Amino acid sequence: MPNNSDVSDVRWDWSYEVEQPKLESLYEKAKRDQWNADVEIDWSQPVDPAGKILDPERMALLQLEFFKQFSKSQLEAFNAHYSAWVLSNLLHGEQGALMVAGQLVAMVPDYEAKLYVASQAMDEARHVEVFARYLRKLDKIYPVQRTLKAILEDIVNTPHWQAKTVGMQVILEGLALGTFINVRAATGCALLRQLLGYVTKDEARHVAFGNVYLSTAIADMHADDRAEVEDFAFQVTTRIVSMRRGMEGMDGFDAVLEESGIDPKDFVVAIQKEVANGFRLDSTPGAVHTLSGLVIPGVVRAGLVSDRIRPSYEAAHVKLFADTRTLEEFEQTGNVRATT
Ligand SMILES: [Fe+2]
Ligand SMILES: [Fe+2]
Repeated sequence: MPNNSDVSDVRWDWSYEVEQPKLESLYEKAKRDQWNADVEIDWSQPVDPAGKILDPERMALLQLEFFKQFSKSQLEAFNAHYSAWVLSNLLHGEQGALMVAGQLVAMVPDYEAKLYVASQAMDEARHVEVFARYLRKLDKIYPVQRTLKAILEDIVNTPHWQAKTVGMQVILEGLALGTFINVRAATGCALLRQLLGYVTKDEARHVAFGNVYLSTAIADMHADDRAEVEDFAFQVTTRIVSMRRGMEGMDGFDAVLEESGIDPKDFVVAIQKEVANGFRLDSTPGAVHTLSGLVIPGVVRAGLVSDRIRPSYEAAHVKLFADTRTLEEFEQTGNVRATT
């Protein structure tokens, strides 16, 4: 009769021994830094949908010439809907992180890793809670973007816990983190700034887990399994890159425009023209460079860019940034200085 690990994804550790002190200390940090959103966050702070939930000066999309033609009240309505759309996808990503953390509790092989990931599941539950509460104040939760949903499903369905960890803790959390930091810097809403401050501190531990646990686990894998994880990391990374570079990332944006009384067709014509003239959707002055500073160095650091897979990245025009300073600064301090 096969043992348990052959018939299900559940891995037991009957030794209860700590072999990786760095993981244990992440768990200790997680216990020490738990917070209760009812107590720590002042939910009585007003959310003014007409205020600068996202400051147009700090968000690339809002710099488009196209938006200059609208009245103040139209732009305010748009700002509220656009903010709700951006935050809705962060909320959906948080739900994904909660699911994956739950799976990892059962799947990671080591005792101290299980304890740590259980703490992450609690963190993600809290993140889902705070984003959902905030969005209720904006009166609208937009549907999950198709590409994000597909990536979340792939991470949930992949059989290797190492692939789940790289998909979630390295790639998607790297992406979310860049957005958290940039939105926090760009918001005029004190409540949003406060809750993002707490969420970001938790995420520093999640990204650190990806680093501490993953590199050795990847190196220890059988070559065939490791190749599968490398392929998975490549697929998720390139999907994220094309989402950031192209119109795929704008999926669902039509509804934002319609809700704000702006014709999506006019927007498409205008953005194509502005992009052709050199406008870049992915560049905001003063923002953290999410792909080159967080996501791609994380994949490289995990040991997932072998000589076998490297040409695929080159063919996909994904530059393999390996400078991990932004990542390390964040893991150590829970914050990063925005780069220019
Ligand atoms: Fe989270
Ligand atoms: Fe997280």
